[in-house]
Amino acid sequence: MPTIYVTRRIPELGLSMLRDKGFTLDVSEKDGVLTREELLAALGAKPYDGVLSLLTDTIDGEVFDAVPTAKIFANYAVGFNNINLPAAKERGVTITNTPGALTNTVAEHAMALILACTTRTVEGDRFTRAGKYEGWGPMMMLGMDLAGKTLGVLGAGRIGSRLAHHAKHGFDMDVVYYDVKQNPDFERETGARFCRTVEEVLAVADVVSVHVPLLDSTKHLINADRLKLMKKTAYLINTSRGPVVDEAALVDALRSGTIAGAGLDVFENEPALAPGLAQCENAVITPHIASASVPTRDGMARLAAENLIAFFDGQTPPNVVPA
Ligand code: GLV
Ligand code: GLV
Repeated sequence: MPTIYVTRRIPELGLSMLRDKGFTLDVSEKDGVLTREELLAALGAKPYDGVLSLLTDTIDGEVFDAVPTAKIFANYAVGFNNINLPAAKERGVTITNTPGALTNTVAEHAMALILACTTRTVEGDRFTRAGKYEGWGPMMMLGMDLAGKTLGVLGAGRIGSRLAHHAKHGFDMDVVYYDVKQNPDFERETGARFCRTVEEVLAVADVVSVHVPLLDSTKHLINADRLKLMKKTAYLINTSRGPVVDEAALVDALRSGTIAGAGLDVFENEPALAPGLAQCENAVITPHIASASVPTRDGMARLAAENLIAFFDGQTPPNVVPA
């Protein structure tokens, strides 16, 4: 039976599914991300048949070569920007991910960031705890209503579509979107209007939410020039990957009032924050927890296990990432 290296403890559900099928699992005992040296040493220790990796592991040619017997890397994430796909293809290694399981949870977190920004919830909490609240004021901490405002979705995949559903049907927002391809089902469900360019979305949206994968073509999709195209009253939300936004340019925009605020769950150089970001009162920042609900993390563990089980049954795993 296959022997799998698991780079960090994940929910037991996925591990027990694999053990029940007779897999042998070596789970890293470190409560943290393995350093590159630790990862290479761990993978070189045995002729593993497969690896269950995390989005915090950088998986490239050198890592594949440390364990040439492993022909599948099952990534415990929907994102796969941590994996060098051409290097995997060259070596005939199958890569899988965990889409679907986290769609609604991430969309809810994006909605939470939107509301936290526009209702100034987190800022108000900080203010109140600091003992600064001296009584109700007619002009105190005014925010923005969502009803009748426009949500701009960049990337109308599963998560972007789900967020648009919440915004339209829960908060009476209008929706505009840009994607590399137009999506008629999405338009029918949310009344969304397709824009031919990112710029068109930025010009009209009151809230811009980013839901693209990190690719060479999406790095710094939101940069200084594009931030200037947003309304001064608008908010930027990012639950995708940090490098999609030029974080230093965003800090400048937040400081100078180029935009009203931002809600971020991901950062360009995680876990570090861009200098000055933590001091921006108009930013709501969470530590990459958009998919972190108990059932969703179980669901991701189940999918990762199902991908491994199918692969070693000689079937095509349900969530192969195209090379
Ligand atoms: C989380 O960021 C994921 O890609 O699953
Ligand atoms: C995530 O699953 C997405 O496709 O947006």
